[in-house]
Amino acid sequence: MSDFEPKIVAFCCNYCAFAAADLAGAMRLQYPPSVRIVKLPCTGTVDAIHMMKVFEDGADAVFVAGCLEGECHYLEGNLRAKKRVAYVKRLLAEVGIEPERIEMFNLSSAMGGRFAEIVEEMTQTVTKLGPTYKGGPKEPVKL
Ligand code: FES
Repeated sequence: MSDFEPKIVAFCCNYCAFAAADLAGAMRLQYPPSVRIVKLPCTGTVDAIHMMKVFEDGADAVFVAGCLEGECHYLEGNLRAKKRVAYVKRLLAEVGIEPERIEMFNLSSAMGGRFAEIVEEMTQTVTKLGPTYKGGPKEPVKL
């Protein structure tokens, strides 16, 4: 397990969470290289099928990071994403995958430090859980 390198996919809203990730980089904050960021116009555009597909393609964890509640530029996109994440948690549990592998976070564009903390927290969680596919990575791993 010591050579396990988690693969985490982050669906980030362009306005807040992606800007926070950018700020974390500009601030030269250190966080694990385990995260692959998918930039979205709004977290309301990510559907449950997208979240499940990245698990199918070999991700060990997924998080969706959008604007603070009440500050979505498309009014309720982040609230819809929150419901979808809760739904995917239930789907994962039904198929025997730990629901902690997916989370929803809300950030402002000024929260670069919090973005780095989230990546660290998710990496620690997944490192404890191990790979999604216990028999080893699925072939081919696309991430
Ligand atoms: Fe950021 Fe909707 S615009 S979550």
